Amino acid sequence: MREIYVINGPNLNRLGLREPGVYGKETLSDLEFMLHQEAQKLGVNVNCLQSNHEGEIIDWIHESAEKATGIIINPGAFTHYSYGIRDAIASISIPVIEVHISNVHAREAFRHTSVTAPVTKGQIVGLGFTGYKLALAALIEGGEE
Ligand code: DQA
Repeated sequence: MREIYVINGPNLNRLGLREPGVYGKETLSDLEFMLHQEAQKLGVNVNCLQSNHEGEIIDWIHESAEKATGIIINPGAFTHYSYGIRDAIASISIPVIEVHISNVHAREAFRHTSVTAPVTKGQIVGLGFTGYKLALAALIEGGEE
């Protein structure tokens, strides 16, 4: 069965507690539960991962090249400055979709730049948890199977 990696970056383990006016009241477990349910409906597996550490995220991106058919990634604040994560994404050939829960373009200027988006298939911003669902559908629709 196809496996899709869902990688959430720094501070996303604090969803539900963290700035609820921006990110909502639902937790990371709620997000992962919803994605597992959605994946089951669509006949795929999701491997949901979260880390606050850049190197660990890079290692998972490398691992996914062997084990997954696509990646959904929310790199959190790393989006705005991590050339390491950008280069890791550029080094693999499976499709990667970048998701942001909040509308980064309506927020502080430093959030308007994504160093990672140019090496992804596409980016979804500002749609809350629905963005992850749409990314999953897009990866499946875009697949060869
Ligand atoms: C975020 C937006 C980033 O700017 C921020 O640093 C995050 C979350 C989002 O999902 O809206 O941690 O990626």
